[in-house]
Amino acid sequence: MSKNFRRAGAALFAAALTAASLVACSSEQAPQSGGDGGGGGESAAASDTIVLGFSQVGAESGWRAANTKSIQDTLTQENGFDLKFSDAQQKQENQIQAIRSYIQQGVDVIAFSPVVETGWDAVLEEAKAANIPVVLTDRAVNSDDDTLYESFIGSDFVEEGKRAGEWAKEQYDGEGYKMVELQGTTGSAPANDRKEGFGEAIAGSDIELIDSQTGNFTRTEGKQVMEGFLQKYDDIDLVFAHNDDMGLGAIEAIEAAGKVPGEDIKIITVDGVKDGMQALADGKINYIVECNPLLGPDLAEIAKKVVAGEEVEKRIVVKDEAFDQEAAKAALPDRQY
Ligand code: AHR
Repeated sequence: MSKNFRRAGAALFAAALTAASLVACSSEQAPQSGGDGGGGGESAAASDTIVLGFSQVGAESGWRAANTKSIQDTLTQENGFDLKFSDAQQKQENQIQAIRSYIQQGVDVIAFSPVVETGWDAVLEEAKAANIPVVLTDRAVNSDDDTLYESFIGSDFVEEGKRAGEWAKEQYDGEGYKMVELQGTTGSAPANDRKEGFGEAIAGSDIELIDSQTGNFTRTEGKQVMEGFLQKYDDIDLVFAHNDDMGLGAIEAIEAAGKVPGEDIKIITVDGVKDGMQALADGKINYIVECNPLLGPDLAEIAKKVVAGEEVEKRIVVKDEAFDQEAAKAALPDRQY
């Protein structure tokens, strides 16, 4: 189907949307345009520019900042895109509003990184009815209908958790370690999957999970949750944090409690952003499994193919590395994010 035909269909569909959804898209929540600020479909219809509406999770972590930069640096006018970008501040309702707004604008492609896994079918069906292809980046949705999106580009989070757990088992099994877990955002794919992968990997070892709470992927909440753990338990040996930022918050809490992070209490995290890698090189974190945030180029390629009506891979798994303290020292000088 041609771009212009799809835009006309989307415009008709938009006109038919209910008053309720129009109200939901108040100007306060309206996505910002990365381009001319106008209603994307009409202004770009005459050109080959691809109008892409992107709904980002938020700005909760260093990883997210690097991911946003990769998308904004790649989906540029020079590269053939008019990017409309919105930040959902970690709220699903904001993402749903942004997606509905992109449908009304008749963009060519909608891309988003779903804050949580469930609850997307209705809005994705609206996009499908408007003939607007959807690409998932970073996080998956949990839906029985995989025709609701064209492609999912992102890391294998279960595998990340597994790699972290395998390293923990290899290093610490037999020591009777007591572990606490700082979980990512409740209901999000990385929190669910990393927990699952880590748990599977340490099964059969004597590492004991004594407590687990969400720190919402932020440094502040990671610190707060770790402070609570330190008040409750005086025998914590190991922290598994679902991302670097929460691990960095935990370091602050551990130091404030007079203990030495990386020695008295070992720390394993996921991401590999610069601050995390620096803490690893400094000996305050013990191991990091990377989660590559540079998804802009893959998104641009898939969006171009989808608009051209070409077949695309349903699942694109991004490759991740893993680092111990020596590997972090070697990698830091060339680290891009
Ligand atoms: O979905 C990827 C995760 O989201 C990253 O690991 C975390 O830092 C971010 O907030």
